Amino acid sequence: TFDVSRLVDLENGLIDRRIFSDAEIYDAEMDRIFRRTWLALGHESEIAETNDFFTTWMGADPVIVSRTAQGIKVMLNMCRHRGGTVCRVDRGNAKLFLCPYHGWSYNPDGTLKVVPGLEADYRHGIDPTQWGLLEAPRVATYKGLIFASWNPEVEPLEEFLGDARFYLDCLLDRVEGGTELVGGMRRWIIPTNWKHAAENFVGDSYHAAATHASIMRVPGLEGAGGRVKDVVGYQAALDNGHGVGMWMASEDNARGGYGHLAGIDDYLKSIQDQLVAKLGELRATRLTPVHATIFPNFSIEFPFASLHIWHPRGPLKTEVRDLTIVDKAMPAEMKDMLRRHCMLRQGPAGTWEQDDMDNWSQTTYSSLSPTARGLMANYQMGMGHEHTRDDIPGRIDNKSSDINQRNMYARWAELMAMDPPPPQVPAACRSH
Ligand code: FES
Ligand code: FE
Repeated sequence: TFDVSRLVDLENGLIDRRIFSDAEIYDAEMDRIFRRTWLALGHESEIAETNDFFTTWMGADPVIVSRTAQGIKVMLNMCRHRGGTVCRVDRGNAKLFLCPYHGWSYNPDGTLKVVPGLEADYRHGIDPTQWGLLEAPRVATYKGLIFASWNPEVEPLEEFLGDARFYLDCLLDRVEGGTELVGGMRRWIIPTNWKHAAENFVGDSYHAAATHASIMRVPGLEGAGGRVKDVVGYQAALDNGHGVGMWMASEDNARGGYGHLAGIDDYLKSIQDQLVAKLGELRATRLTPVHATIFPNFSIEFPFASLHIWHPRGPLKTEVRDLTIVDKAMPAEMKDMLRRHCMLRQGPAGTWEQDDMDNWSQTTYSSLSPTARGLMANYQMGMGHEHTRDDIPGRIDNKSSDINQRNMYARWAELMAMDPPPPQVPAACRSH
């Protein structure tokens, strides 16, 4: 048993490190957070054709995401017969999902199509319409990104994203045609609690100077903003626990500084009119989002663009799904350059990612220390200095600040104090 108000003390900027390793807290997160909110699953271009699918996770639940003639369906990847894993590959195109155990087979929309021996063996008769795969009741997309929720009462997706849309659009809606995936999906396991990854991307610019000190000395790898003079960094704490970090260039130093990415400055110039028309002057010329987390477990490395989804696989384990997205309208060689750039930087062996992963596993495992039990972690940076601005949404602070982490854990605590949503199980097949 745990008391959320004692675990997260945001008045004083303190968080009990037990939340990064305790199995009971982890189980409650899966039930109260991951079954209640919207969860990012991937990008529409991963399932461009009818019957395309990929498998992934919604919290502790394995799911199939499938494009049917009726739109995108998200289903529990768990056979209704005895619970076999129906689909055991990452992605593909299938007219039927066949459970390898006894051969029950499901249509791409999850309805049960074939029961071997339906008449000869099930002599009392069963009703196949009652035994389809469990379906996530809410699925929606935002400018190419696919989200789903187990909660039928969840707010509309646009409302959930709230003021984060202002920043997301800088990536998702900067040019006609939108975005697409390049280079497939990379996934790997990190020995860390999922929140250490989410909180790092939500607002932890502070770590970069120490964690990434070596890589920032390598010409060409110093990252967005690193070469731009006269830029100021900010954090913005957003609705529903989301957060973003950004660079703001001064008036006379219009955005740029991606010279280390071959051809990018020319590309940005070529789409400048569209940028202004779609995003307005500020976001077209001066404001560049750099990193963000959409609570709970979806992070973005802007502006040329890794998507990370942190799938919890136990209190001490996180499975990362990493995707690179580009503007559909980009020249092919630029897409390929960005694919390489993202893989070299943010992939499992990426120059930046390795630095981070090691730190997150240290902070996770140190929370198991018996001597340090009850020792609170410090999230106090910038307390009392948050403010607002007229030109950008969110509660704002300096680039180095814990404002976004406090905002994220405020949302975490709010959801952890609520009862979990009811199970989505048909009444006829539910335990009592
Ligand atoms: Fe799937 Fe039996 S568990 S057919
Ligand atoms: Fe980092």
